[in-house]
Amino acid sequence: MLCNGQCRTRRRGGILRTAVLASGRGSNLQALLDACSNGSLPIEIVGVGSDQPGTSALERSQAAGIPTRVFQVSDYPHRQAQEEDILIWMREYRVELLLLAGYMKVLGPQFIRQANFPVLNIHPSLLPAFPGLHAQRQALEYGVKVSGCTVHLVDEGLDSGPIILQEAVPVLSEDTEESLAQRILEAEHRLYPEAVRLMVLGKAERIGRRIQILQREVV
Ligand code: GRF
Repeated sequence: MLCNGQCRTRRRGGILRTAVLASGRGSNLQALLDACSNGSLPIEIVGVGSDQPGTSALERSQAAGIPTRVFQVSDYPHRQAQEEDILIWMREYRVELLLLAGYMKVLGPQFIRQANFPVLNIHPSLLPAFPGLHAQRQALEYGVKVSGCTVHLVDEGLDSGPIILQEAVPVLSEDTEESLAQRILEAEHRLYPEAVRLMVLGKAERIGRRIQILQREVV
């Protein structure tokens, strides 16, 4: 299994206990939940956390019978305390994999250092182009003809971790930020479950910052 910088590579026989952090709509969370329920993604989503109360992501989790927790930054004296609470929650649930699915806060370096499990993220551009917020707007303003999405390991930088999978999406001359975001989102919903599947099945191998895909699955 792929790991963050410090943790050792480990492979387990069982289904990985997975937490998801999401801040809003939760359509990528839904794609992961759907892949779990149709048997194509061998992980168990044991908890969903959000930094925002009342989000669709939380509703989708509750509908799937998955426990949820809200970690609202304003409930804590500072950001680090919020992140420590997330780590405690993940330890309680014996989490082995963390998936960020539209989690709109950047996790601090201490969180990443303390997380002894892989943390993955999906980003709506072909990284390293257009990291950070409003990636689709950045792509349109720059004038690229192709954008897309990236699933990557999270490191201490901003959208800078090793890339697991990418999918290209054309940028059309008539595109608005919304139409481009929608077309990229459709690719995200395919790419995220596939990247997680490759990883948990041991079909993605990390060599330095490069991740070699040993065998791409057709599902
Ligand atoms: C997606 O575009 C994802 O790439 C980005 O935030 C958006 C979240 O959408 N990180 P959703 O909440 O999964 O619908």
